[in-house]
Amino acid sequence: MSDMNRRSAFLDEIGLGPIWVRREGGIELLDAAPEAIETMPQQVTDVAAGLQAEAMSAIVESTIVGEPVNESSAWSDDSAPASVPVPHIAVPEMVSPLAMDWPQLQQAVASCTACGLCHGRKNTVFGVGDNKAKWLFIGEGPGRNEDMQGEPFVGPAGKLLDNILLAMGLKRGENAYIANIVKCRPTDGTGRDRPPSPEEVAACMPYLQRQIELIQPTVLVALGKTAALSLLGLDPATPVSKLRGSVHRYADRPLIVTYHPAYLLRQLGDKGKVWADLCLAMSTYAQVGE
Ligand code: URA
Repeated sequence: MSDMNRRSAFLDEIGLGPIWVRREGGIELLDAAPEAIETMPQQVTDVAAGLQAEAMSAIVESTIVGEPVNESSAWSDDSAPASVPVPHIAVPEMVSPLAMDWPQLQQAVASCTACGLCHGRKNTVFGVGDNKAKWLFIGEGPGRNEDMQGEPFVGPAGKLLDNILLAMGLKRGENAYIANIVKCRPTDGTGRDRPPSPEEVAACMPYLQRQIELIQPTVLVALGKTAALSLLGLDPATPVSKLRGSVHRYADRPLIVTYHPAYLLRQLGDKGKVWADLCLAMSTYAQVGE
């Protein structure tokens, strides 16, 4: 067996073959033309094999566990002793959030470093409530209190949200789930809360998407501009006032937009509007049913 054929068989055996090499007039599969290989310019085959060897050494960085050799494999030619261990390559688990169960998702959020917000957080804020809730309320992101306690809406805006839930016949943890667009607190250079950037939203959105799939809520309520615009993918200039009063859709579910409780604390005169939005949400819920 020529060196090249041996190399090809070896790479094939470990799942990195066959070798593709550039020849005049295009790319050719090395295994497909063994005779031609012998006449291949050496630099060309070296480059091809070198690229595959690089890919292999990147993978081999992970755990390697030895196992007795398979006699019929490409390892067992006369240059490789029969007892050479075959590497078992343990590829690190890369599960997409969209395929995770609750514990995996919680763990992934707790250790997330997908954006810069991880550097300033004290706690991630996963979400709270009934995992099978029919109502899902979505805010913007944790503030100072939430960052310290690891739970959404625990400050003054949270107290107001709890009262809103009570008025709707709901309770935190009973048929209601509360989550945010981002799971870590966004702050500006002076340590004050700020809205998350589009990049931070994009990095965090798969977690919320998976929460929605796992909860399967009947109705979603977007609390404020960041939640509404992030979910609906709208221009940042769109005001909440334009989005109120309609039943939107997200992930094939009805979505109602209302003002954020923190805004309402500053604009108490708008509480009638919020109540009207929640009445729309309740009538939508009644129509959609379970
Ligand atoms: N504001 C939000 O949007 N979310 C929280 O969790 C707290 C305040």
